[in-house]
Amino acid sequence: MKPKVLVTREVFDDVLDFLGQHFEVTANQEDRLLDAETLARQLAGKDGAVTTLTERIDQNLLSRCAKLKAVCNIAVGYNNIDVPACSTRGVMATNTPGVLDETTADFAWTLLLATARRLTEAEAWLRAGKWERWQLKQFLGRDVHHATLGIIGMGRIGQAVARRARGFDMNVLYYNRRRVAAEIEAACHATYAAKDELLARSDFVVLQVPYSPETHHLIGAAELKKMKPTAVLINVARGGVVDDAALVQALKDGTIAAAGLDVYENEPRLHPGFLELKNVVLAPHIASSSEATRHGMAMLAAKNLVAALTTGNPPNLLNPEAKSVRREG
Ligand code: GLV
Repeated sequence: MKPKVLVTREVFDDVLDFLGQHFEVTANQEDRLLDAETLARQLAGKDGAVTTLTERIDQNLLSRCAKLKAVCNIAVGYNNIDVPACSTRGVMATNTPGVLDETTADFAWTLLLATARRLTEAEAWLRAGKWERWQLKQFLGRDVHHATLGIIGMGRIGQAVARRARGFDMNVLYYNRRRVAAEIEAACHATYAAKDELLARSDFVVLQVPYSPETHHLIGAAELKKMKPTAVLINVARGGVVDDAALVQALKDGTIAAAGLDVYENEPRLHPGFLELKNVVLAPHIASSSEATRHGMAMLAAKNLVAALTTGNPPNLLNPEAKSVRREG
């Protein structure tokens, strides 16, 4: 008998076909959001799951899914999964690192350029029929070329953001918990700076850290005050890394000039203050959303699940310690 798996949200048809070669698949191609109770009911009796960041995999859920052996997230971030709880119950957890780095870095730049040059504000004005004549002082923005870029979080995506800055002749600073190797600094033309120094010197601050208790509100009122009043903040990392209420206030009172955001606390319900501001460019968590990359992410999660339930060695295992815990079935 084939193992039974649940795919919690809509995926590409060929990803389902691939899973179907190995498993009895329960899919959700209607893309309904599963509340905690529905998810628990659908996952009970399943051997594995392909999940997304909209499902919370926690103690409570795991306690109701005795057969579950693997949870394979379609995302590089996995703050929706309680990994220690998975480990205790012998459930392997995986993510999708690597396949989305360049696409996400492209989008950090999309937001950075759009915010610097006030693109969405200008387009909304044009679409509203307000453009009557060319003016010298119309939508004056900020130069990106030769400015200072500060990257907080110098993992794979942070490095990809840094490499792109060369084309704009930027001065690149970075802050990371641990300083990266000299070869990486050289390849990225990036100089290590303490966080406060980076905040004080950068014209553009790009956040590229995972969300965890340590990075919760990494940027709050105090950090925003350390930035230049002309500075722009870009968040393509995770909601919760920025204190959104503090950011709304800082954008209102001119503590910083502008922000470009792809992620929010409590998304998709964003702080209402953002919608009233002109100096913020807002995207609905789409940094990795190119056709090729979202497909690559979904297929990698599927391959992780096949490996987890056949060889027991998924390529992107987050908790090797789970393997030493015996599972039912
Ligand atoms: C998307 O947000 C991801 O973590 O991959």
